[in-house]
Amino acid sequence: MARTLTHLLARNVAWARGKVAAHPDYFRNMAEAQRPKYLWIGCSDSRVTANDILGLEPGEVFVHRNLGNIVHTSDLNVLSVLEFAIDQLKVRHLIVCGHYGCGGVRRAMSGARGALSDHWLQPLSMLHRKHKCRLEALFGDERSQFDRMCEINVGMQVRRLAATPIVEDAWARGQELHLHGWVYAVHDGLLRDIGPHLSSAVERDALPSIDDDTAIER
Ligand code: CO
Repeated sequence: MARTLTHLLARNVAWARGKVAAHPDYFRNMAEAQRPKYLWIGCSDSRVTANDILGLEPGEVFVHRNLGNIVHTSDLNVLSVLEFAIDQLKVRHLIVCGHYGCGGVRRAMSGARGALSDHWLQPLSMLHRKHKCRLEALFGDERSQFDRMCEINVGMQVRRLAATPIVEDAWARGQELHLHGWVYAVHDGLLRDIGPHLSSAVERDALPSIDDDTAIER
């Protein structure tokens, strides 16, 4: 078995040469600075790659990914990315992007426990447990319940993002910052803008809690 990933390194060389062939200054410009307008918080799923889905070049979107696109409000990883994106890069848009068929959401719905990932997904499994009966009543088949949980997960993470002191402080000092909730469908390659959209603390506070029964309805 190959000990070095020469095939990947070869692909990298081909990619870089292709970029320079099309735009001779491509990497010279890139090296100066990054000026992304967007922060993407998405799932680590190999199919859900921010730049490809958005048709953006390197330098155009700042990215944080983890299992199930969860925003843990004590997670130093997501918080430091968030702070850097808002305070240093001055991004205008925070996008939480979930996806249908998410293994993290499926795991949270399964009631499984014992793995480290179950601790990570705990807020989501708690939310599912709370809404389980109503979810089954509103969305008959398991596939529909699964799809809806993938959407509700996004709703929860947007709310959590909006509750961080980092986002609150940005709004308090008048910095323009818009939060978006999207779901990506791996079967057709298209994004759905499902919300919520939040651009201020007032809008956030007017939003029903994700624990409310109404949060389950579409
Ligand atoms: Co996923």
